[in-house]
Amino acid sequence: MIELKEITKVYGSKQKTTTALSGLNLTVEKGQIFGVIGHSGAGKSTLIRCINLLERPTRGEVWVNGVNLTRLGKRELQQQRRRIGMIFQHFNLLSSATVYDNIAFPLKLAGSDKAKIKAKVEELLVLVGLEAHSAKYPSQLSGGQKQRVGIARALASDPGVLLCDEATSALDPQTTDSILKLLLDINRKLGLTIMLITHEMHVIQSICDRVAVIHQGGIVEEGPVTEVFLKPQHPVTKEFISRDVAGGEPLKQAIELLKPKGIGIYRITFLGTQTYESTLSEVVSETGVHFAILQGTISAIKDVPYGQLTVSFEGKPEAVAQTVAKLQQRELDVEVID
Ligand SMILES: Nc1ncnc2c1ncn2[C@@H]1O[C@H](COP(=O)(O)OP(=O)(O)OP(=O)(O)O)[C@@H](O)[C@H]1O
Ligand SMILES: [Mg+2]
Repeated sequence: MIELKEITKVYGSKQKTTTALSGLNLTVEKGQIFGVIGHSGAGKSTLIRCINLLERPTRGEVWVNGVNLTRLGKRELQQQRRRIGMIFQHFNLLSSATVYDNIAFPLKLAGSDKAKIKAKVEELLVLVGLEAHSAKYPSQLSGGQKQRVGIARALASDPGVLLCDEATSALDPQTTDSILKLLLDINRKLGLTIMLITHEMHVIQSICDRVAVIHQGGIVEEGPVTEVFLKPQHPVTKEFISRDVAGGEPLKQAIELLKPKGIGIYRITFLGTQTYESTLSEVVSETGVHFAILQGTISAIKDVPYGQLTVSFEGKPEAVAQTVAKLQQRELDVEVID
């Protein structure tokens, strides 16, 4: 578990200071994949670097697995850091060392014996799918393969926590997805707690359980990804949600056309198995209301399917009200669109 308590980070000297984080609180439960999303300069890298004290917070406490890292001496901190793996946007591999030696590096540093190192590195090569590449140098690898080396190296000392600083930002969409799949796989196989930072909602949507939105050094919204993604509250969060979900320009035009005619417009959210059920058609056949679909999405958040339909309901006002009530009785989320 990771707990950040009232973390403030001020960079600079007396003349010119930048407050990168101001009194930030955050809790990541064991085994979770927790995403932090924010624009450039929001404080994401500072935040993640504060967790293993690569950056020392100016004020506040960092707790990882029940230990207050901010109060440890140098040697104890070094020991605790071995329990926290980290991967980077630009991989940070040793260019003059092979894949094998890159992965073995933290184990050599820790003084493990050769046989132990060999067994561990071979196990990790299989885990990240690089068995055939162990003798290659980083320059002979694709971006995705380099990040796989980064992940294997980060896992070498059996950490309980993995920190990912924009780990897929330098990769193309397909490679990004394969790396995200690997992270999810590792999370499930090893029960590893993963904290990742990104500026892409797609990354959050694919693998995270919870998300926090960081803006100007503070968390402005936090919750389960399903909740934050389908019902964003803060303007910054809304910006990050794709046009698909929000509706965009075509929906705006439909609203401008239909609203003056007094036709009601509603957004219905289906979550989980609701997505595949015929609730809407059953309800309108009961109430006699006609509907038109103005915009629709079916997708998934991690492994939870969801659908979001924006519809107009035409009919007698009491029949429309009854339609909305019946949908809500069947536990669909119905929101009036103005
Ligand atoms: N070493 C530093 N010295 C001074 N200011 C810094 C330092 N590192 C970061 N900052 C400032 O702190 C703020 C937060 O920076 P940070 O790198 O955490 O943002 P970020 O969200 O990771 O941005 P990006 O998406 O561009 O990587 C910015 O205003 C940045 O200029
Ligand atoms: Mg950054």
